[in-house]
Amino acid sequence: MKWRTRVTELLDITYPVIQGGLAYLAYSNLAAAVSNAGGLGQLTAMSMSGPEQLRKEIQMVREKTTRPFGVNFAIGQHGRPFEKMVQTAVDEQVPVISVTGGNPKGVLEAVNGTGIKTLVLVAARRQAVKAQELGADAVMVVGHEGGGHLGRDDVGTFVLTPQVVDAVDIPVIASGGIGDGRGLMAALSLGADGVEMGTRFIATKECTHAHPAYKEALIQADETSTTVIKRSLKAPARALKNDWTTRILELEQEEAGYEGLRSYISGDANKTFIYEGQKGHGFGWAGQVASRIHDVPTVEEFFGRMMKEAEEIRTRWS
Ligand SMILES: Cc1cc2nc3c(=O)[nH]c(=O)nc-3n(C[C@H](O)[C@H](O)[C@H](O)COP(=O)(O)O)c2cc1C
Repeated sequence: MKWRTRVTELLDITYPVIQGGLAYLAYSNLAAAVSNAGGLGQLTAMSMSGPEQLRKEIQMVREKTTRPFGVNFAIGQHGRPFEKMVQTAVDEQVPVISVTGGNPKGVLEAVNGTGIKTLVLVAARRQAVKAQELGADAVMVVGHEGGGHLGRDDVGTFVLTPQVVDAVDIPVIASGGIGDGRGLMAALSLGADGVEMGTRFIATKECTHAHPAYKEALIQADETSTTVIKRSLKAPARALKNDWTTRILELEQEEAGYEGLRSYISGDANKTFIYEGQKGHGFGWAGQVASRIHDVPTVEEFFGRMMKEAEEIRTRWS
């Protein structure tokens, strides 16, 4: 069965499925596996030490796949200059660059005229309209169910996606709460031309940076197992609930502010859990869709399963 949408055409991929940027987790193994399976895999640039590591990872993806892939820039969240790394991605002529977490203008300008396709991840209708005005080739729109950083208005994927579809002309990629063929078909029904998934790809064999305890926590999760932290900093983000996030929420109640929260929400606290599996000493981002994760397949097995489910739904509908 062919899966032809504006997103498969734009990105030259087989299935309209994109692996989202995954801070500290999305390196060449995962990105290449997703691209080889027919989706768009991505490297997460801002988790890399600098332009040289990014260049190496890009080259490693190219050794592992001939299919298109992307490089993701979460420009607001790491407090580090990203311009040089964007230039590295441009110099390397990567097929796709995605950007989120701040004003995408600078990145879109740097990429303009290079032939690289641009995706902007947004969390609100007005941001999608802005991204279109700035020249993005497509927008990805993440609803409140999603893992990691979210919009401030708590709007779910089911409402946000058609709102954005009706507001822009460029292709829309739905994100947040999607983890199987049912989710893909629901997103396409809402008018999206594809889906982006984050949490689901953590629980795959090729996400080698994620500690087994993190993957196991995703498998054990139900629909109430995540919580939103950093709301008090106006940067809400969804993580697996544990003693560490409970402490963060208490500190937020006590109006601890950025300085009081800093060590609790740092990249090091994130890595202590996701790399070392120490539950009591760190946190891991995850979306509500963790409740739909029951195993750790290879990326290829996962794609086979998801697309079979989606195809069965298509056949039933027709
Ligand atoms: C562990 C984790 C790390 C993330 N890091 C990034 C990131 O660096 N850049 C980015 O654009 N999005 C990031 N996201 C968001 C995802 O790309 C994606 O939009 C989100 O996970 C979609 O929701 P889902 O988890 O329900 O699939 C992250 C999400 C998770 C779960």
